[in-house]
Amino acid sequence: MVPTNSMTAFEVLRWYVEAGVDETIAGHPVNRFRPVGENAAESMPQPLSAPKDLSDKGFSDQATAPAAFVPPVSIVKAPVLGPGEGSANGEVTTAVHLAQAAETVDGLRRALENFDGCGLKKTATNLVFLDGNPEAQVMLIGEGPGADEDRQGLPFVGPSGKLLDKMMASVGLDRTKVLISNTVFWRPPGNRTPTTQETAVCMPFVERLIELVDPKILIALGGPAAKLLLAQTAGVGRLRGKWFPYSTPGLSCPIDATALFHPAYLLRSPGQKRDTWKDWRAIKGKLDAL
Ligand code: URA
Repeated sequence: MVPTNSMTAFEVLRWYVEAGVDETIAGHPVNRFRPVGENAAESMPQPLSAPKDLSDKGFSDQATAPAAFVPPVSIVKAPVLGPGEGSANGEVTTAVHLAQAAETVDGLRRALENFDGCGLKKTATNLVFLDGNPEAQVMLIGEGPGADEDRQGLPFVGPSGKLLDKMMASVGLDRTKVLISNTVFWRPPGNRTPTTQETAVCMPFVERLIELVDPKILIALGGPAAKLLLAQTAGVGRLRGKWFPYSTPGLSCPIDATALFHPAYLLRSPGQKRDTWKDWRAIKGKLDAL
């Protein structure tokens, strides 16, 4: 569907939802696909105009109300590709070079800030890189930022993050003792699953982050992170409670890695919390034995 000025408010709203818009974060639209320098003044954010005669006619008059909405046509325009952006391999290669060149966690953050090869960056508000202690012995990797994380620029700060904090606290862990990140560093619109291309371009940075932190224990939160990090095809139900060696050429020795149910899944299926508490106790036991 292409939004037009003759759509009813309901149709516009439905179009927003189908396009993945699930919240308003500012009063003015922002054209994130505008090529730098192209008609800059023309595509500057314009305030939404208030309906002139809303008080006369009331919100129930569908013929009037939609005129107050300016459908964000800009967000359905194909992004303008820069040099080399057309090739998925090119972007992954760039990501590998940038990530490998980073000698510190701060350097890796700067590399990510300057990296434009992941399409998610165009629709996200903030880069969500990491939270916690870069010298931690425990590292957790989730799937990708949600709305709260996108707003704050920090991973796991929404409802699932609160549950994660509670579970860690039950075994004496908190964000000063772990490092938390994700398989992608920008929020997928509407919280959709990241595409293969989006994870492929972020993985070199995830791997470099793991190398730089070099934790003793690596935890994949949820199925998508487990598939990527543990190179296993089974679901978390089968992987949890087991340990797998995680290695990259840049690590001096393999890291013990495991998978946990994702906290968002536990919020939906609280029956699985019991097993996850057990898993956390096993992780703490392993940590204490180091
Ligand atoms: N879910 C994730 O996988 N990561 C976050 O940062 C938040 C929610």
